[in-house]
Amino acid sequence: MNKEVVIKKCNICNTVVRVLEGNSDISCCGNKMVTLTPNSVEASFEKHMPTYEKAGDKISVTVNHVMDDDHYIEYILYVYDNKEEMVKFNPGEVAKCTFDYVKGAKIYSYCNKHGLWGCEVE
Ligand SMILES: [Fe+2]
Repeated sequence: MNKEVVIKKCNICNTVVRVLEGNSDISCCGNKMVTLTPNSVEASFEKHMPTYEKAGDKISVTVNHVMDDDHYIEYILYVYDNKEEMVKFNPGEVAKCTFDYVKGAKIYSYCNKHGLWGCEVE
């Protein structure tokens, strides 16, 4: 069973951290960091939700989102069993990557403006 990924953000300086263990309060810029939950920010669902296509024992993951200098998908995170794989992106690149197919794995995408999105591999 996959544990829920805990990602926190400072709403002042926009620092984002991945918590490896626990979910205690972490402060940044003098305030508590906010725990991000997938789909928590109002924005276009279809532009942020990762989609995937299965091909044999692999899946190709895509996020159909702009990749502008000030607005882009920073990373795709793939979580399964006791493993996590992260692919980071830069503006101008295509938010697309490939992972091993694992039923029940979770796929997260992170937009620098609209937060965390996620789905589960069926
Ligand atoms: Fe966005």
